[in-house]
Amino acid sequence: MNQRCYSVAIDGPAGAGKSTMARRAAQALNFVYVDTGAIYRTVAYATLSRGIMPEDGDAVAALLPELKLELSWQEGVQHMLLNGSDVTTEIRKPEISDGASKVAALPVVRDFLMETQRNAARIHSVIMDGRDIGTVVLPDADVKIFLSASPEVRAKRRLLELQAQNRTLTFEEVLQDIKERDYRDSHRKTAPLRQADDAVLLDTSNLSLEESVDAILNLIRKKIGL
Ligand code: DC
Repeated sequence: MNQRCYSVAIDGPAGAGKSTMARRAAQALNFVYVDTGAIYRTVAYATLSRGIMPEDGDAVAALLPELKLELSWQEGVQHMLLNGSDVTTEIRKPEISDGASKVAALPVVRDFLMETQRNAARIHSVIMDGRDIGTVVLPDADVKIFLSASPEVRAKRRLLELQAQNRTLTFEEVLQDIKERDYRDSHRKTAPLRQADDAVLLDTSNLSLEESVDAILNLIRKKIGL
């Protein structure tokens, strides 16, 4: 008999700590962690590296059939392959963050990526993070969590991550970027960032990483009895 696949949807704004927390929780449960932001980033990378403006809907739509996107996992870490090349590192650059938020506002891109995301949840138990996982991609997810934190706390966390990559941005620049992305992600017409009606809100502004992961694991265990 096939083992049942569980799905956990974690949505929230940029810098809420979704990816680090979701990855840790997935490790603890032996689930696959699916970072859907990385998929949008890969489309943005493909767009920008061909000199296409990420807000140019027609040009991006024309490019999509040429893109083969694959997810693979190496020691629990998700890698993104674009037409066979590993672009996992390249897609983390700040200009790609901005481009990803722009291509993500295009309905044609969201439709194009739907099956890639749903397929991942068909074959594995997953913790999938993004912006519209609980509302659109996996509306029947077993557990839905909406992770939040104040823009200032999120900017501080993002700055630390960027500094660890030797990137020299100021707190104000990172905060500004977070606020712009929040606005764009939650005001777009298609699948805007919003909390699903049946999602549990978890504000991590005053929680450490460990406390946040514990809170996520408690919610999941309570809901699906693992
Ligand atoms: O989580 P992230 O910062 O890597 O995501 C990059 C961008 O992709 C973000 O600005 C919003 C978009 N995104 C989305 O619209 N829907 C998702 N499910 C995941 C990401």
